[in-house]
Amino acid sequence: MHPDVAWGLWSKERARRVESVIDNLLPPSAEHPQRLHEAMRYAVLGGGKRVRALLAYAAGELTDADARAVDRAAAAVELMHAYSLIHDDLPCMDDDVLRRGKPTCHVAFGEATALLAGDALQSFAFEALAGGALRDPRQAASVLAHAAGSRGMAGGQAIDLGCADKTLDLSELERMHRLKTGALIRAAVRLGADCGQAMDADGNDALLRYASAVGLAFQVVDDVLDVEGTAQSLGKTAGKDAVQRKSTYVTLLGLAAARERIETLHVAARTTLTGFGTGARRLLELADWIVARTH
Ligand code: IPE
Ligand code: IPE
Ligand code: MG
Ligand code: MG
Ligand code: MG
Repeated sequence: MHPDVAWGLWSKERARRVESVIDNLLPPSAEHPQRLHEAMRYAVLGGGKRVRALLAYAAGELTDADARAVDRAAAAVELMHAYSLIHDDLPCMDDDVLRRGKPTCHVAFGEATALLAGDALQSFAFEALAGGALRDPRQAASVLAHAAGSRGMAGGQAIDLGCADKTLDLSELERMHRLKTGALIRAAVRLGADCGQAMDADGNDALLRYASAVGLAFQVVDDVLDVEGTAQSLGKTAGKDAVQRKSTYVTLLGLAAARERIETLHVAARTTLTGFGTGARRLLELADWIVARTH
């Protein structure tokens, strides 16, 4: 795609692209065991903003990787994310019935199948990545595993579940957000960049700071949208955090201060990209979009 193409067109094209990559990689619904394959496809296809895939493609543009080289890394982070959403929605976790504008996976397929669909999507993420064009495939597997594990997303989810009914302080809350959401977003950026040319230490450091800022901003926006959005606009139940007495940036700081925090992170993300030049264009646009999103 031409480098001057507008953000809206670029993001739509890349979202469609990763959808088709995932569609082609996943086993067909007709393959035995059909119900499991159907549930996997139900959870990952036909919805979602594809933010993690877009971040991978955008970071790939920074290191001169063409979209084809990034496809599997982009698919892998979306597969991992879809697994995390299935499990996040289970009755033993957030007990949600609506996701991406349709019934959650366990509502549509039953808890046992949803649990297995999540497990299988997590494995499939590694399978997708293994066939990819990364500079260092072993390192890539380790990045994705770390992001999903107890020092990443699963660890953050454990803190989230453990904190219902008690108030975290700001540093504990930030730590939880950086793990449960930030870790996979950082991995998406890292893996996308690792599909292209190697960067020097300063470049890697700046990219990590960018990913940390947008990763945290993403979850603070999610907290704000849980209060301000509707089921219609979000495609998931609104107001859940208050009902489940979760600690969020809104409960801890209030809406105005949560919004200020988002803007501080936005500025931090943009600032870290200043040394990169035009190759960082999509990363900049993504930072702008992540903080301004309404769903
Ligand atoms: C929702 O993620 C869960 C969080 C980590 C906040 P997204 O807002 O990216 O969900 P989809 O992929 O667009 O449905
Ligand atoms: C989920 O955070 C983070 C994950 C690792 C899936 P939330 O529980 O706030 O996500 P939503 O609001 O249900 O999408
Ligand atoms: Mg949750
Ligand atoms: Mg949830
Ligand atoms: Mg939420």
